[in-house]
Amino acid sequence: MTSQTYLSELFSLDGRTAVVTGGSSGIGRAIAGALARAGASVVAVARKEAELADTVDELTADGCPAAWVSADLGSRDGVRAAAEQAAEAFGEPDILVNSAGINLRPTMGELGEEVWDTTMAVNLEAPFLLGQRFGPGMAERGFGRIIHITSQQAHRAFVQSGAYGVSKGALESLARSQAEAWSPYGVTCNTLVPGFVMTPLNERLSSDPEKVAALAARTMVGRNGLADDFAGAAVFLASRASAYVTGQALFVDGGLSVH
Ligand SMILES: NC(=O)c1ccc[n+]([C@@H]2O[C@H](COP(=O)([O-])OP(=O)(O)OC[C@H]3O[C@@H](n4cnc5c(N)ncnc54)[C@H](OP(=O)(O)O)[C@@H]3O)[C@@H](O)[C@H]2O)c1
Repeated sequence: MTSQTYLSELFSLDGRTAVVTGGSSGIGRAIAGALARAGASVVAVARKEAELADTVDELTADGCPAAWVSADLGSRDGVRAAAEQAAEAFGEPDILVNSAGINLRPTMGELGEEVWDTTMAVNLEAPFLLGQRFGPGMAERGFGRIIHITSQQAHRAFVQSGAYGVSKGALESLARSQAEAWSPYGVTCNTLVPGFVMTPLNERLSSDPEKVAALAARTMVGRNGLADDFAGAAVFLASRASAYVTGQALFVDGGLSVH
């Protein structure tokens, strides 16, 4: 057996279909690209059409089947419509990645119901509803991979964690509930836990060189995260290789959480 064949048996996503929310930017875009280059047909879901089209153009130019769905995952109807459209592109997904997320960061005293509701809708309810829509089908077909992108704020407060930290803590619990329900049927459910990653989400912090350097010093690797740091971990969790890994939180944070 060649090393190529061996690696392919472990990690190839050939023939798989993936839906990646937030697949047009930052971590989600890097994961969409990684899954596509590992062989999956990928549907990216987000709101802004130009970014979505740009992502999909890049993938199709590389010979990867890809499609996009523009939808607001901040409403239940939006999530339902997005799920149906996403399944139309390449069929029911084998892999669901929930990377779409928002972090609005008002102080706790100023945290109103609107920010609370929007945060829970995008960061927690959309992953729940998409899981309900796609999880049972994955279980019936005997293979599935659900990957949520949570945050260090699922584990500790960090710069006005407010509703965001709560939503991410609950998302890790959701992964465990889904893992309990569907792992017996070949559907693993895990989370990737970023530390501080240089993406548009935290533009305010990542455009301040002093803060960037201070955060990098808190890691063990000595730098902040890049979206591409998630590629390998996402392919692993989406592949056959991770069949016995479920209900877990995999920290991709340069050692930040254990420093
Ligand atoms: N960057 C970090 O340091 C960091 C740290 C911990 C956790 N995370 C988590 O990692 C995930 C990805 O974050 P990122 O840093 O890659 O952020 P990003 O670059 O801002 O990407 C966020 C993505 O979510 C989409 N999105 C936001 N609201 C949406 C909505 N209502 N409906 C549909 N799509 C929506 C965005 O597209 P549209 O705006 O076009 O909708 C975009 O594709 C998030 O869940 C975030 O909480 C990030």
